[in-house]
Amino acid sequence: MTRVLVIGGGIAGLWAAVRSADAGCSVELVTKTELAETNTRYAQGGIAAALFPDDSAARHVADTLAAGAGLADPVAVRVLCDEGPARVRDLIRFGVAFDRGDSGLSRGLEAAHSRARIVHAGGDATGAAIEAALVGTVRRRAVRIDERTMLLDLLVERGADGRAGVVGARLLDEHGAIVERRADAVVLATGGSGRLYRHTTNPDVATGDGVAAAWRAGAAVADLEFTQFHPTALAAPGTPLISEAVRGDGAVLRDATGHRFMPEVHPDAELAPRDVVARAVWRRMAEQGGAPARLDATGLGAAFLAERFPGLDRVVRDAGIDWGREPVPVTPAAHYAMGGVATDLDGRTSLPGLYAVGECARTGVHGANRLASNSLLEAAVFAERVARAIAGDPAQQSAEPVPPVLPVLLVQENCTGRAPQLAPEQISCTSSSSSSSSVDRSALQDLMWEQVGLERDERGLRAASEQLDGWRAPEVRDRRSAEDRNLLDLARLTVAAAIARRGSTGAHFRLDDPATAPAPELEAA
Ligand code: SIN
Repeated sequence: MTRVLVIGGGIAGLWAAVRSADAGCSVELVTKTELAETNTRYAQGGIAAALFPDDSAARHVADTLAAGAGLADPVAVRVLCDEGPARVRDLIRFGVAFDRGDSGLSRGLEAAHSRARIVHAGGDATGAAIEAALVGTVRRRAVRIDERTMLLDLLVERGADGRAGVVGARLLDEHGAIVERRADAVVLATGGSGRLYRHTTNPDVATGDGVAAAWRAGAAVADLEFTQFHPTALAAPGTPLISEAVRGDGAVLRDATGHRFMPEVHPDAELAPRDVVARAVWRRMAEQGGAPARLDATGLGAAFLAERFPGLDRVVRDAGIDWGREPVPVTPAAHYAMGGVATDLDGRTSLPGLYAVGECARTGVHGANRLASNSLLEAAVFAERVARAIAGDPAQQSAEPVPPVLPVLLVQENCTGRAPQLAPEQISCTSSSSSSSSVDRSALQDLMWEQVGLERDERGLRAASEQLDGWRAPEVRDRRSAEDRNLLDLARLTVAAAIARRGSTGAHFRLDDPATAPAPELEAA
């Protein structure tokens, strides 16, 4: 029986675990904290799919490619949009009660979608509804679940053919002991890395553990320079997300004087691609001395806001804001990692035996800017494909040749998949001999926010690189130190990728080279 080790308990990990068990594999699922504490749980807007008669997979493909600013992979996007509706129907079978109106499923609109195609549950609690349904489903399967167990490193061995492959993982268990688990297939579903930044919508588990461990094991990673900043996080401690769906329903952005500024920035105003809106908010805040922008939802009325966005209504009111009557102070915050462990269309990485899915994977569907509400969809579509690939591929052989033991960073050049490799020696991932102090997480988060954030330039990136070189990775003793090591590795990789990518594309905006990089011809496959 194929032994599968799934690491991560969001939609991607739960889906991969459930479907691998359905395919007859022996499955162990490990999660860093409690099973349900993941980015998935906090997803508000919903899940995008071409489910309605006025829509089509081709339209969804076109919107996704346009948002991706020329860097999304049309083949992967086609898979995402073609298979998306079936996966949403699977979610309904798993027990997700999407909101319904008189004429069937309710649907919302979000930025850069040409159709209202976002289905949601509990108003603004889609992620929580999906998480609850999948947790219930996985608990009904013969899946061994180890909570409060963190990935430290992947186990890599050479097979009889001399090729290196992943044969398991080293974990920190709930008692603080380091244990090893061997498996035929390891599925990374460890989510994002928003905690690289001072301000983020992500929970504190989002420290990029899978990407960092994959890199250390020698897997190819790509697109790490593309971090998506959400334009509207509540400007209050914890920067909770204020869903784009609020703008989809008509809320507008104003500056400190009350002026609505987005119409002069982009023809789609508040519903322009997310990177455009986030940068506009960032700049307006800089012009007004750092004061937050204002999300004005007063036109929607208190009763509508409470009914359509019950979770947000609580969050905003708990912060002392009566958003039916007054605008909400908002700021951009790190939200989503478009890059990650490079995979093929079945989640295979460049290391045999290692798969990646969900936010930690770089499938190519997001390019330089993810289309809103495509992330839950990506996780479902590609987790299904991972489970099928593992079941149908008992030898766990990757089609790709394994790179040499030294890690490889891919910086994608265009959507045709030309991906020049940076030589490992170009990437500083080890501390210099003069490194004296162990990395300080909050200083690292400040550095990333200030120098590697919504706008970057060569000088700031080089300064960040130097500062990061000056820090040592801590000795791994516990979850905190293991996370700090991962954050330091990822910060260094992100800076190296941002230095390597000239020009400005999507979420990667270089103040010293602001002209948008020419996008290749886009054609849906
Ligand atoms: C939101 O609700 O604004 C976030 C949805 C997403 O990130 O796709």
